[in-house]
Amino acid sequence: MADGAAARDRLILGLETSCDDTCAAVVTEDGEVRSNAIASQGLLHARYGGVVPEIASRHHLELIDAVTADALERAGARLDDLDRVAVTQGPGLIGALLVGLSSAKALAASRRLPLVPVDHLHGHVTASMLGPDPVEPPYLCLVASGGHTFIARVDEPAAYTVLGQTLDDAAGEAFDKGARLLGLGYPGGPQIDRLAREGNAAAFDFPRSAPGELDFSFSGLKTALLYRLRDDPEASRPDLAASYQRAIVDALVRRAERALERERLDRLAIGGGVAANSELRAAAARLGATVWVPPRELCTDNAAMIAGAARFLEALPYPDYLSLDAAARLA
Ligand code: KG4
Ligand code: ZN
Repeated sequence: MADGAAARDRLILGLETSCDDTCAAVVTEDGEVRSNAIASQGLLHARYGGVVPEIASRHHLELIDAVTADALERAGARLDDLDRVAVTQGPGLIGALLVGLSSAKALAASRRLPLVPVDHLHGHVTASMLGPDPVEPPYLCLVASGGHTFIARVDEPAAYTVLGQTLDDAAGEAFDKGARLLGLGYPGGPQIDRLAREGNAAAFDFPRSAPGELDFSFSGLKTALLYRLRDDPEASRPDLAASYQRAIVDALVRRAERALERERLDRLAIGGGVAANSELRAAAARLGATVWVPPRELCTDNAAMIAGAARFLEALPYPDYLSLDAAARLA
């Protein structure tokens, strides 16, 4: 498509397969999400209590073509209408990433389109820049998911600076592990969220570890819950869930508040699966900042955020990207 085409007509196809969701989306140059298709493998992994990398890769392979076709169809677009293709290069499960990257290369090469490799975390950080009410830099972003938990500063959309991060478990992982100890299913976040509504968050005093000014640590919290259950097997499950959730949310919100103050920012964007948590949303709304929480489908892993981030990044022309590799960790 010609460079002079209106932004709303320039379409980016995004693919995301870094973990257990097979995702494809079509986003316009001006940030409108035309489609956001997600095939979740969640139930397949549920019986193992976590994501099994080899199973994830195999299912990505089976699903990626259909999910891509679905995203194009829902957007009313054909491959010939695309301006470029974006794909998650890392970080993530290497076998899973390779499926998306190979597929994106093949699609782009078939039309001689440019390809944009995208950092998955950059996608989460800029998810709030999509849609009709985009957050504008400078802003602070709190990303809390099953795989990552960090606070970043965004001064311009092409880059972000991590100010603090978890030193052990991610916040979503803390929810999942806590839920398992409480005998709830996987993923645990939504279950703890639900059960916590019936409980008293002040019933138990779980630790809020503070390993650094803006860093997080959740592994001690999980151990505290384990000991509490061992010492008091009859303890009220709703009270435990509410108190445990309160400890995680407190840790997240206090660091966000401190970062906003220190960085003198008044805009906060929240992303990652844990952004769905009702207590986190309520607590963030009480901070002295304007808060953006994208719709749930843009918080959890998705390809719209990858195509969205690609708007701000350099595209590799055909055929320069054919030798591109995925990376479990990006430098
Ligand atoms: O972003 P996401 O879908 O996948 C990763 O990149 O990890 O996040 C999934 C995580 C899981 O750990 C899940 O338990 C958590 O997000 N989660 C929640 C809620 N909904 C999902 N955690 C707390 N409260 C929720 N309502
Ligand atoms: Zn993610």
